[in-house]
Amino acid sequence: MVYGVNDMAYVIPARDPRTQSSGVVAGYAQTAQRWPARPLARRAHGASELTGPQPWSGLQTTGADLAGHGARRALGQLIDVRVSIVDEDGAPLPGAMVEIWHCNAAGKYIHPNDANDAPADPNFYGAARLAADAAGRIALRTIKPAAYPVPDTDGWWRPPHIHFSVWGRVWLSRLVTQMFFPGEPLNALDPILNAVPDAAARERCIARFLPQAGNALVFEHQLVVRGRTASPEMR
Ligand SMILES: [Fe+2]
Repeated sequence: MVYGVNDMAYVIPARDPRTQSSGVVAGYAQTAQRWPARPLARRAHGASELTGPQPWSGLQTTGADLAGHGARRALGQLIDVRVSIVDEDGAPLPGAMVEIWHCNAAGKYIHPNDANDAPADPNFYGAARLAADAAGRIALRTIKPAAYPVPDTDGWWRPPHIHFSVWGRVWLSRLVTQMFFPGEPLNALDPILNAVPDAAARERCIARFLPQAGNALVFEHQLVVRGRTASPEMR
């Protein structure tokens, strides 16, 4: 299918300030460097974007298990994370490329910039890249990430969370957001989650716990890539 330059499906919708993050978070200096200083300019995707290679065409997917097994299992509470990726109408997005990263059960990322003195876990794999199945779903087995202190702040601890990125059809289209866990006392205090003014929109950032028998706790979540109930951008 060929999309025209003015195809409305590719026009970036107006950003809803109530259901989207404010971007620059007071007290979190790094957010000012991650957010545009000027208003975004809207631009329909042109022929070069629409006919070029898909963003993920050169990217390899990984396994869907960050926790390992047996003697090589990561420390922490095993969890299964089931995520559906949908559009503004709730329609599933099969094949969507989803990237995932989070810290270990001590609050340490596998990243050289993480200055937290929490211990690394040699059996924990901190990131994955998965393609959604025919029903627009991904399933990840991992351990529950811990809360961690944010450097250079006055006692701010991030609640446990998982970072997600969903690639769109072109390089210019990408959702970066975070998933939180239900019942965490730090959720109510987190400046990043609370940078979203609308309570219902914040609630949509929190996964649903599914009571199930098994050796892992199960959490279900939905990522909405655009529209009125779009998942808030969270860097
Ligand atoms: Fe994080």
